[in-house]
This record gives sequence, C-alpha cells and structure tokens, in this order.
Amino acid sequence: MKGRVLSVASECVPLVKTGGLADVVGALPAALAGQGWEMRVLLPAYRALRARSKGWPVVWREASLWSGEGRVLAGEVDGLSVLLLDAPHLFDREGGPYGGPAGDWPDNPQRYAALSWVAAALARDGVAGWKPDVLHAHDWQAGLAPAYLAYHGSGGCRSVMTVHNIAFQGWARAAMLGDLRLPASAFHPGALEYYGGLSTLKAGLVTADRITTVSPRYAEELMRPEFGMGLEGVIAARAGVVSGILNGVDLSVWSPGVEGANPYSARDMAGKAAARSGLSNEFGVDVPGPLAIVVSRLTDQKGIDLLPAVVPELVAAGGGLIVLGSGDPGLEAAVTDLAARFPGRVAAKIGYDEGLSHRLFQGADAVLVPSRFEPCGLTQMYGLRYGTLPVVAATGGLADTVIGATPASLAAGVATGIVFHPTDALAFGQALRQMVRLHADRKAWSRMQAAAMAQPLGWEASAAAYAALYAGLKKG
Ligand code: ADP
Ligand code: GLC
Repeated sequence: MKGRVLSVASECVPLVKTGGLADVVGALPAALAGQGWEMRVLLPAYRALRARSKGWPVVWREASLWSGEGRVLAGEVDGLSVLLLDAPHLFDREGGPYGGPAGDWPDNPQRYAALSWVAAALARDGVAGWKPDVLHAHDWQAGLAPAYLAYHGSGGCRSVMTVHNIAFQGWARAAMLGDLRLPASAFHPGALEYYGGLSTLKAGLVTADRITTVSPRYAEELMRPEFGMGLEGVIAARAGVVSGILNGVDLSVWSPGVEGANPYSARDMAGKAAARSGLSNEFGVDVPGPLAIVVSRLTDQKGIDLLPAVVPELVAAGGGLIVLGSGDPGLEAAVTDLAARFPGRVAAKIGYDEGLSHRLFQGADAVLVPSRFEPCGLTQMYGLRYGTLPVVAATGGLADTVIGATPASLAAGVATGIVFHPTDALAFGQALRQMVRLHADRKAWSRMQAAAMAQPLGWEASAAAYAALYAGLKKG
C-alpha cells in the first residue's frame, strides 16, 4: 500500500446523489485502490443514510459539534469504505442534502463546517488506528477542511482541494467567522475574506496544498474572469499548484455490453436499434432523422434555455428530442411546452430517473450538452461510450473529451461528435443541422460511432494522475 486518503464530500454514489460530484466521489476509491492507495469517504449521515448505517460501530465523537453531539460511524457499502458523520441536529431532515421544500437550509454554513471540522480532526489524529496521509476535499461543502488543518494543526496530513463547480462557493456572513471556528487573524483578502464575507470554497483554495479541477481545460478557464466567477484571481495566484485531472466513467455501471434487454457493442449494434424502437414506443416519439436526448439538471449552466430556439428547426429537419431533467421551474416549463408543441417529435420527463437515463443513452442517436460552462461533464462521456454521439459546446471537459466533426477529422476517422462555439442559439442551431446531415450519411455516422465507442473513458489514467499527486505530497 502506497498511502491513505480521506476523501470528504457531501455526495457519493451509491448513497446520495444530485449530480456528477456523487459519481466521481463514489468511483475514486476503487480506481485508487488499483493504484495502491486506500481511500475512505466521509459523508454526512442524511436521514436515508442513518437507516442504512444501523449497527455500524462508533469510531469518533464530539459532544458539542455545533450545538449537538456528532458521532462518526464506520461501515462498508458495496465495497466502499464509508465514514458517516451522524449529527441528527444538522443532517436528519426531510428533503435533499442542501435544502427542503422552502429552499436551502439556512444553517448550511454550520452543517458543512461540521462535516469539514470532523474531516480535519480525523485527518489530523487518525481514526481507529487509520491515519491518512492526504485529506481530499471536494467543492465548497468540504472547503473548510483544508482550512481547519492549516489553522488548527495538520498532524502531518497534506491536503487537496478539488473544484467540481466554481458556481457554488459556500457563501457565509463575515460575522460567522467565530461560529465557524475560523481565526479572526485570517480575515483579510489574502486568506479568508471574500467580498466582505466568507466563502468556504475560497478558504479551501487558499489553504490546500494542491488544487485540482476535473478537466485540464477548466483548470485554464478558472483563471479567467469569464469562468472564475470571482475566484479567478485566487486560483491564478496559486497557478503553480493547480492541475486539471479529467473525470473517468465507471465502466461497470456505464457499458452498453452489460445492459439488460438490449446489450450491444461497436461490432454488433443490433441491440441499439432495438433500444431505439423501445424508446420510440415508450415516449411516442417516432422520427426519421436523429433522435437526440438531454439528461441534465435544468439550470442556466446547462444552456437548456436555448432549446426553444433550436428545436423547431430540428423537428422540421426530421429529428426528435427526449429531455430527462429537473431543476429551474421556468426551464421545466419550457421543455414541457416544447413537448406539447411537437407531439410525436419531442417528449419531456421532468424528474430524476437513473434507470431511464440508461435506456436513453442506449436507444438515442445523439446527446445534446449545450453548456455555458462545464467543469467536466459526464453525459457526453456516457454518450461516447454508447455510440450516442455528443453534440457539445466547446467548453471545459466537453472540449477535452469530444473530437468535433470537421472535414479533416472525418477524413482521418477520429471525429467522435459535434462541437460548437460559442454557446448561443446560432452556433447550437448550426451544430444540430450538421448532426442531421451527418446522421443521414450512414457511413460517416457509423464511423463516428465506432471512434466514439473505442475512446478509453475509464478511471485508469485519471486515477494514476491522482495517485501521482498524492505521492508527491506524501514525499514532502
Ligand atoms: P452536473 O454534475 O453538473 O449535474 P455531470 O454531467 O457531471 O453534470 O453529471 C450529471 C450526472 O447526473 C450524470 O450522471 C447524469 O446522468 C445524471 N443526471 C442528471 N440529471 C438526471 C436526471 N434527471 N435523471 C437521471 N440522471 C440524471
Ligand atoms: C460538477 C460539474 C460537472 C462535473 C461534476 C463532477 O457538478 O458541473 O461538469 O462533471 O461536477 O466532477
């Protein structure tokens, strides 16, 4: 064994997921085990997780963890070594991880400070004889963990801060400094102060030994004002310790060859055709041209608001669309409206449905990802894997994973999708026209599918990059 890593996050597959963060946090431990690194994941014991952890031993406790007792329970779920922070006053609630029907929980700063505090304590002192070499913190929810190591002692444990999405910065009022157990002496622009208040993400970015993000392109973008969302200067100032490591795909979960009713492979695509008719029946969408899908959180980030401008032309050209997503009520209404306007051509399912997302990737011809920014993005990679060609904006991880069709890339046989820039209705509309044209050219389309399905997308290369990062830190 080369070393030990404590990973701390707010989400982790298969226990709790609202987006790609959970996929990544859940996949890393097995990927790193292959590199000789032992990783345990610390998560909050949300209500549903409390039930799953009945009977797990208590390995750590603090009597007064933000006005209530906090205990850490240790257990295993699907081969994943999990530490759960059980603090019912903070996490045992009806609703999602970050909020309930009335919006975000007002005490989110304290809730995730508690998670980060415990992560730092376990990293510093070890837990039940297990002492980590590295603390790996994910996003704003864990941003204070490196800060606590820096300000309250690290016990020799080094730290990595990974940015999955800079749009969420963990804002808190300056007056909460003491309550969040942060030193007043660090409240200045070079450290904790952020536009007159606090940002837990900034705290992590200024105190961690290394900063990573989830694609090389996003690592560059983050240092520019168009993408840094106020933190570009903080990141640029630490450029020497910043790196971009692309996410992988969990191939045991996302592989067309292992899926239920219609398994298929690049060599035999019959199962994909069967899956496509299945989808047509299920959604009453029957089109001669390409059947596209969107599987996404419906938010401004994802460019979903562009759909009403481009879908009419797609439909007129013989294409179809199925949208699976939830989020912003205005965007939910916009896609529902499109489905009502184009019956038999466009369908929408508002909600979160993991099983359906698999069926969509199996059966569709293309997946649309018109994001304004995309730190990595997973659905374009699922698309590649399933021969469901990605149509993506040239940003972040989308730009790093898809080779756009051009006369040169098509001639060389390396094109794996369609890439457009900038993220606006004009460029997106042109990309969809190109998709329709290429789809009509069966030979060109099949060649692109074969190239896409041959792309290595597993975790191996990325896990090796994380392992190298940890090893560098451990050495000193
Ligand atoms: P983000 O994390 O920004 O939402 P990613 O592309 O990294 O974007 O990850 C999104 C993950 O969530 C993917 O695994 C995707 O399949 C999944 N997903 C998003 N919306 C839905 C939905 N409505 N139903 C099922 N899965 C979804
Ligand atoms: C974030 C990003 C997404 C990325 C995911 C996992 O949610 O929006 O692009 O793939 O984190 O790193």
